[in-house]
Amino acid sequence: MSRLRRATQKELDEAVTALRNGELVAFPTETVYGLGANARNPAALRRIFEAKGRPVSHPLILHLDSERFLPRWAMEIPESAYKLAEQFWPGPLTLILRSNADVSELLTGGQDTIAIRVPSHPMAQQLLTAFGGGLAAPSANRFGRLSPTRPEHVREELGDAVRLILDGGESTIGLESTIVSLVEAQPRLLRPGNVRLDQLREVLGDVQVGPVESSPRVPGSLASHYAPSIPVVIVPTFNLELRIDALLTQARRAAVLAQRPPRKAQTNVTWINAGRRADVFAHDLYANLRSLDKSGAAEILVEEVPEGPQWEAVRDRLQRASATGSNEPVGDDLT
Ligand code: TXA
Ligand code: MG
Repeated sequence: MSRLRRATQKELDEAVTALRNGELVAFPTETVYGLGANARNPAALRRIFEAKGRPVSHPLILHLDSERFLPRWAMEIPESAYKLAEQFWPGPLTLILRSNADVSELLTGGQDTIAIRVPSHPMAQQLLTAFGGGLAAPSANRFGRLSPTRPEHVREELGDAVRLILDGGESTIGLESTIVSLVEAQPRLLRPGNVRLDQLREVLGDVQVGPVESSPRVPGSLASHYAPSIPVVIVPTFNLELRIDALLTQARRAAVLAQRPPRKAQTNVTWINAGRRADVFAHDLYANLRSLDKSGAAEILVEEVPEGPQWEAVRDRLQRASATGSNEPVGDDLT
């Protein structure tokens, strides 16, 4: 595992200069790597959409070094935002608030709301403070693909489209932030993540779950988001061996992501035992799926994960990775 790194002064200077020139800088966060641009520069924001191949209607998350700058970007900030900030920032939580009128439409997707997060990764903190403003940063992957949790994933996804990649080691959490909307009468969980529903409820009381018609758009809620290129199939534990044998009898290779070792050694099977701990499973999930995606298998078989709050974000991402075809939102599913 590569170490969590802080940036050198040289790296910081280079990154800040690039950002001030409207260029893109990929940087580590504790969730996944972000593709950063000066949030006050529309030309820079446009570059994000080009580099990712992402439709401009999909809003971006604004990253700040602390809640001190919130009023520059959001208005009518409810008390609940500060309560959550106190508890979970810096950290893997994104808040949806009413945006100020001068915020770029490229950031908000033309809506009157803004997504804001204060990341805890030391290098993200250094960069944000040195830059001295807000950075718009979606995950640093091509649209619809797996989020990067290592600098080499960013290079793989975006190549030369990004001016600079800051290497901060592996993302410690490995899944995108929890997104909570605070613009309706009731707080609403839009995307599950490392900050769990039960933890949110401890601070907020009642919290609604999943997007509704009137909720802001969340591309992470498209059914086929976060997907490898080989089909992903979620398989109940008792069926795993049967599904593997079915592929092998057709002379095809199988890739498996399980929580246990294989019962027997088999050729033409690439097996990853990701273990039984939800936090470790989450940390390794995207890197594991990336490596299985290169295995030459006909399918990636993922052993079903347990029920329970610890596994909620992993379940959500696995469902999306396994959803085929359509870019239709997945109804009132957790997103
Ligand atoms: O952990 C994370 O959140 C990472 C790191 C880099 O911070 N970022 C991330 O960004 O996952 P992205 O763009 O891949 O996903 C951001 C999500 C999208 O699903 C987007 O629609 C949602 O945030 N979002 C942004 N602005 C929004 C808004 N105004 N209302 C509702 N959802 C919004
Ligand atoms: Mg993303």
